[in-house]
Amino acid sequence: MSVDVVGRLIKIPYILVLGMGGTISGISENSDNPLQYQAGKVSVKNLLKNAGVDSVCGCKVFSKQVANVDSQNLTAEHLTELGKLVIQGLEDPLLKGLVITHGTDTIEEVGIFLHLICGNKANKVGKRIVLTGAMLPSNALLSDGPKNLADALKWVSSEFDDYPGGVYGVFAGKVCLGMDLSKRHATDLDAPLQAAHCSPIDNLTPAWLSLVRFVLLTLETDLPIPESDAWPWVEILTSYAGARPESLQLLLKSGMQGLVIAGTGLGGFHSAWLPGVLMATKKGIAIVRCSRTGAGLVSRDIPEKEMDGMVASGNLSAPKARIGLQLALNAVHQAKVEMVPTTWQAIFANTSFRNHSPIIVR
Ligand code: SIN
Repeated sequence: MSVDVVGRLIKIPYILVLGMGGTISGISENSDNPLQYQAGKVSVKNLLKNAGVDSVCGCKVFSKQVANVDSQNLTAEHLTELGKLVIQGLEDPLLKGLVITHGTDTIEEVGIFLHLICGNKANKVGKRIVLTGAMLPSNALLSDGPKNLADALKWVSSEFDDYPGGVYGVFAGKVCLGMDLSKRHATDLDAPLQAAHCSPIDNLTPAWLSLVRFVLLTLETDLPIPESDAWPWVEILTSYAGARPESLQLLLKSGMQGLVIAGTGLGGFHSAWLPGVLMATKKGIAIVRCSRTGAGLVSRDIPEKEMDGMVASGNLSAPKARIGLQLALNAVHQAKVEMVPTTWQAIFANTSFRNHSPIIVR
């Protein structure tokens, strides 16, 4: 018998569905255009009730409403609370796995966050944490939410031992690693995993499973979750034609601790920012450069030798690099308290998977 994350005494294996909001919980008042809607209106309890789900594969299904928001409004507090609940769940011997219903707009951040704070633990205990959501609100005629929820419950409860524990995303009949989620289309039903390595959920691709095992093997530790008031301040600045030095100068006066530059192409930035970037590194501001293209690798010393105090993001997009840098800065802070010598650069290097997205030379 154990007490679950909502404080119930549980005696049988169970699956927990955490509700965060999003379009999957959205309601449209306009039957002619379901894209006019409000996210985060239906409770997760009612999503399960409407789908007629009470148990799957011999596991009772319970739910907890963590938030019910449009994910554009996700806060550091939400992430801290969600992370702590997930870890608590992983430690419960009767919990089989977790499904999280979430808005697709920032599911990219949540996917990398969970992967970095508990992907290793989930893999070790053989439990799956599955993020899902929808592109159409719950009352749209062709809403994708019910099928996505059913698929997520299927993936989380799948009986096969050789499907590794870890953080995943499920949309449009496909499954990918949570760290690979990234919304790269405004309306397509498979938008959150269009750019991801993924597999059909009903016909798993052996190559995808091997890749998943490889990525999870490279995850040697989990990073600590920042307390809700202790998330380091990290900004994203996108480089563009005609960039002005003032934008960076303003940020330098702000008190930010880290900066992600969403650079052009291979991660370069406008030379108008060079003096500001040099100033930032002198002030000890951590800088990561990634590519505004949204895909591919940004590698050390490519195309030019790396500046001191700056690191390349590997295959992390700007929003993912931002979460990775926040977690790295927080981990350094905690290591200092425990007097363990480390650097944010060393920790950040382990947040990105450089070999995961190979460069193809034709
Ligand atoms: C949201 O991210 O909360 C709204 C958009 C969506 O879920 O697709």
